[in-house]
Amino acid sequence: MGAGAGKPQTFYIETFGCQMNAHDSEKVAGQLLAQGYHPAASSAEADLVLLNTCAIRDKAEQKVYSRLGHFKADALAGRKKIGVLGCMAQLEGEKIFERVPYVNLVCGSASYRKLPALLVRLQDGQRATGLTYDDEAFETEFTRRASPFRAYLTIIEGCDKRCAYCIVPFTRGPERSRTSDSILAEARGLVAGGYTEIQLLGQNVNSYRDPSPRRMGFAELLGAVGRIPGIRRVRFTTSHPRDFSREIVEAIDSHPALCNHVHLPVQSGSTSVLRRMAREYTREEYLEKIALIRSARRAISITTDIIVGFPGETEADFEETLTLLDAVQYDGAFSFMFSPRPNTAALALDPQVPEEEKGRRLKVLQARQREIQLARNETLVGREFEVLVESHNPKQAQWVGRTTTNKVVNFTTPTAELGSYARVRVRRAGPNSLVGERVQ
Ligand code: SAH
Ligand code: SF4
Ligand code: F3S
Repeated sequence: MGAGAGKPQTFYIETFGCQMNAHDSEKVAGQLLAQGYHPAASSAEADLVLLNTCAIRDKAEQKVYSRLGHFKADALAGRKKIGVLGCMAQLEGEKIFERVPYVNLVCGSASYRKLPALLVRLQDGQRATGLTYDDEAFETEFTRRASPFRAYLTIIEGCDKRCAYCIVPFTRGPERSRTSDSILAEARGLVAGGYTEIQLLGQNVNSYRDPSPRRMGFAELLGAVGRIPGIRRVRFTTSHPRDFSREIVEAIDSHPALCNHVHLPVQSGSTSVLRRMAREYTREEYLEKIALIRSARRAISITTDIIVGFPGETEADFEETLTLLDAVQYDGAFSFMFSPRPNTAALALDPQVPEEEKGRRLKVLQARQREIQLARNETLVGREFEVLVESHNPKQAQWVGRTTTNKVVNFTTPTAELGSYARVRVRRAGPNSLVGERVQ
């Protein structure tokens, strides 16, 4: 066994980045457990520390390098082995060994099935790398999910778009869809195992194309997952606006288990910036997709991602992003300052927006969006919602639930069970969450 004959080796995974990485860490944990490794309570106690990394912005990479520095003494003294997994591993490859010589393993997300063999090399005192895309790395039979009631499920890996700012096509490779049969079989297995919420994952779920003769499209797949008896909630992320179709809205309207929430990253409200970003839609076309969602019978919440300070973004372009916020009335927005990434087309674009100006725009945008969210959430005061009870905060005697629209509700109740569904009445609203109480 990879863990060797002596005392069992222990591992700890630190995860950076998006939900795909969170789910990949569950796959990796499962592989390690199957190889005889034991989980450690913290990275300080672990024999093997794995950093599952993100490369989306420069800051994300800097965070990982500073975290690696933290393990230097233990690694050099031979008390720990260190692995770099995920997007930064794929992007930088063996260069990581040059920059951080005490790293023992570098492995990208498409190579996790090779981990058992790579771990054997590590135990033999050798360095190991897994950096090819010849392996699909969808689910493994060993996936060890962190939650007993909400499960991530990969439906498509990689990305074939070439958004000018984005590193993901270089870190996760070309698009590969998983067969509908294997997705549905895993979903049924999850429901049989007590899961009631499934979140379908992909960089661009709308590009899903069933490689099997059934040829299911994404909307059809949503319906098929939503029809599985026992499933209460189906979420999906992320949708690319260009490929977002009426059929998806119709699927949400027809299947009660599909959640009332769409995450539709816009990136910018200016058509000229969108063109230079190679997003393949205009402001007007994006607003048409929003109108489609708003025309649904169900009240679907909409969230987005925005980049400020893309090269060449003028004050007028930025104003258009602000007016887009007003027009759409998002329920949530993740916003970022543009960060130039290696290999991407945006490197050749100019002029760069100065860092201070990016920071100023970000602040203005976040303040505007905060007001919108507060106003939207205030309209919910007095109303009742069903929430999935996700966590408990004993210090504040509060439970934390989530609505189908993906809003967090902190609520009071004498007792509740994690993973159950509760009805709550909203009493107060903040920009990022609601406060309420349980109703029987
Ligand atoms: N697949 C998703 C995006 C994944 S990355 C999609 O197509 O929407 C998540 C978000 O990070 C992006 O939506 C974008 O807003 C942001 N992002 C990506 N590259 C960035 C960069 N170079 N600088 C700043 N933000 C970036
Ligand atoms: Fe990146 Fe664009 Fe692909 Fe999303 S669709 S992962 S932003 S290249
Ligand atoms: Fe980061 Fe990779 Fe996700 S770059 S955002 S962890 S796909």
